[in-house]
Amino acid sequence: MTPPPFHRGRRLRRTEAIRSLVRETTLSPGNLIQPLFVTPGKGIRQPVGSMPGVERTSPDEALRDAEELAELGVAGVILFGIPEGKDERGSGAWADDGIIQTTLRLLARELPELLLVTDVCLCEYTDHGHCGLLSTDGRVRNDPTLDLLARTAVSHARAGAGIVAPSDMMDGRVAAIRGALDDDGFAEVPILSYAAKYASAFYGPFRDAADSTPAHGDRRGYQMDPANADEALREVAADLEEGADMVMVKPALPYLDILRQVKDTFGIPTGAYHVSGEYAAILAAHRQGWLDGDRAMEEALLSIRRAGADFILTYAARDLARRRAGNI
Ligand code: PBG
Repeated sequence: MTPPPFHRGRRLRRTEAIRSLVRETTLSPGNLIQPLFVTPGKGIRQPVGSMPGVERTSPDEALRDAEELAELGVAGVILFGIPEGKDERGSGAWADDGIIQTTLRLLARELPELLLVTDVCLCEYTDHGHCGLLSTDGRVRNDPTLDLLARTAVSHARAGAGIVAPSDMMDGRVAAIRGALDDDGFAEVPILSYAAKYASAFYGPFRDAADSTPAHGDRRGYQMDPANADEALREVAADLEEGADMVMVKPALPYLDILRQVKDTFGIPTGAYHVSGEYAAILAAHRQGWLDGDRAMEEALLSIRRAGADFILTYAARDLARRRAGNI
């Protein structure tokens, strides 16, 4: 037998059965986390204009959504709160009867198997829309913010959070949160750090949904410069040293190279946040009839897994899970 003169890739692409046999990457609801936006009240469902299929809901309706997600095998939800009021310090973030804490208690009681992740940040709760306390000249102060983030994380753990995910990008926040959780008896609650979080234009629709656009300036003083890759590795190393159990890269598609480097360098559980603008862009093109939105979304999510993400936070989790279950 003479060997073939050249590689014949097409032999392994002839049928779905053989393609399935040699497929390297999987994408299933168990890899996904669905973000939910919660707002005080009852029976509320407000569509988010810039994110088709996404709604702000009251806690009772969030429970309904979470029930469906749990049934479909989606791994978990990450909660974002739209509080009743905002102030300079963002005190709604750690209030015992805050919107996140109230929702957590309800979901934890009704759905003990569903992973409840919380975003630990102040920007949805501050009247100025920044992720930390401001100095008189309008700059975000690092160290005084740490204590407030730690209080927020502890209040989430008390209310039933399974994972806390700091997204503020203050230096030293993982250590502050780890210390506070341990002191309060929550040594078993893991920290998923938004370690490499870039100052991105792709957060636009989220800021509509969560009403968290900074009133002045932008977040480039604390979120990462999109041009930097080595720095992402330093951020991840620092967060791991401080006690992060898992790390995240955010956004996802424009930063697949970062994701691959983080996974290869550290070999730790690594997530990616497929953010609002990434989701909205595909749906907008779909609505124009310019591409097949379902297929484009699957391809995007698969690429994120292929680049090294163990799990993905995505607004498309529910739809993908419905498709897998044959529900749409
Ligand atoms: C809070 C936070 C943001 C997102 C997640 N957590 C907004 C921001 O940093 O401006 C964005 C998520 C998305 O765009 O889907 N800091």
